[in-house]
Amino acid sequence: MFKKTHWTILSLLLVLSVILTACGGGATEAAEATEAGTEATEAQAATEEETTGGSMNQVEVFSWWTGGGEAAGLEAMIGVFRQRYPDIEFINAAVAGGAGTNARAVLATRLQAGDPPDSWQGHAGQELIGTYVAAGQIEPLNFLYEQEGWLEVMPETLIPLISQDGNIYSVPVNIHRANVLWYNPTILSENGIAVPTTLDEWFAAMDALQAAGVTPLAMGEQWTAMHLFETILLASLGPDAYNQLWTGELGWDSPEVTVALQNFDRVLNYTNSDASSLTWQDAAQLVVNGDAAFNVMGDWAEGYFRELGMQPNVDYGWAPVPGTNGTFQFLSDSFVLPVNAPHRDAAIAWLIVAGSREGQEAFNPVKGSICARTDCDRSLFGEYLQSAMDDWATNVVVGSLTHGVVANDSWKTEINNALGIFLADRNVANFQAALTQACATSGPCR
Ligand code: GAL
Repeated sequence: MFKKTHWTILSLLLVLSVILTACGGGATEAAEATEAGTEATEAQAATEEETTGGSMNQVEVFSWWTGGGEAAGLEAMIGVFRQRYPDIEFINAAVAGGAGTNARAVLATRLQAGDPPDSWQGHAGQELIGTYVAAGQIEPLNFLYEQEGWLEVMPETLIPLISQDGNIYSVPVNIHRANVLWYNPTILSENGIAVPTTLDEWFAAMDALQAAGVTPLAMGEQWTAMHLFETILLASLGPDAYNQLWTGELGWDSPEVTVALQNFDRVLNYTNSDASSLTWQDAAQLVVNGDAAFNVMGDWAEGYFRELGMQPNVDYGWAPVPGTNGTFQFLSDSFVLPVNAPHRDAAIAWLIVAGSREGQEAFNPVKGSICARTDCDRSLFGEYLQSAMDDWATNVVVGSLTHGVVANDSWKTEINNALGIFLADRNVANFQAALTQACATSGPCR
């Protein structure tokens, strides 16, 4: 009925345009009439989109999963999406660069220009709440949680980190562990070194390796230095004091933090000199290639090692970063629904797959993470990820700085600026002063 009226108007306009042209009404009137016809068609399409909740024919999903291990995981989940929704074209708008360093800048520009993708990757925690929710850029998803029964299968630890005022804002696809020490088992055994469990044992091991001419610790570009830094803060302070740094209960100018920064300074002495020009994959690869003994990286490194055809416990081993045993420093990738998603229904279809057991079982074993859902089939996962599942279930859980859990974007940026200066001048006192200032300017120390 609705459509019929519009077609009638459209036909009348077309007839009118023909009459005007035939009567020598001139090009201008004819053009105007045609324009009016086009507008009527566009208006009709727009009204149809409104009533159906957006066109379903494509979905543009934004992430930073382009590189080794990461792209393969995403492709596996896209495979599930294509099977379930063969009529929706999937547009993979991934921007290269580990930890989203480039992608998040591109996303910010797009959001500012009012050109959001249909869904994007965002970390559970302050990155989500302090950035996208604070700016009113994403929609609450409580309706989807109810519809899909997700409250029964998503971990209780996670829901508060993706919620504000009773609204849930994203769909977590995984749990990653940040505080993992990857090592080359052959290098350690050839040098008579046991896997270190404390910072002191680790320093002793790295002294011995350095004396033997082996690069003790592989590191990459600056965000990987921040990743290393947060694990050393945790190792030095323990989980309670580490958490207090992010709530403002422990001052960044305290003596405990001085010790943590000195430890970090010392750890940096064992790293490769070309770190700033290496991606996280390059740095991790030094370990499996036998060119470095250790690397501290999140467990997406395992997805990469597998993609390279490396064997767990042969080509690489793992342990909690020394001094962090019993603590799981976590982060979670999640997907969001923007306000004004260009293809809202298709975006919801993507979110349904991202939150589904099938989607998560396809994605996580390849990505090198465990499911956010609690009901995935354990036997689909390799030895490392099974151990991560056990630790996630039993350890004390704390959040990652580099990957969006504990600090909002502006605070993290200030910490990153201070870190950049420290990597160049290695002045612990100045670093501590800058970190203290950062908490006062952008953190809870205000
Ligand atoms: C993290 C992200 C991981 C992985 C990593 C390296 O921020 O949560 O899934 O992509 O960056 O790029």
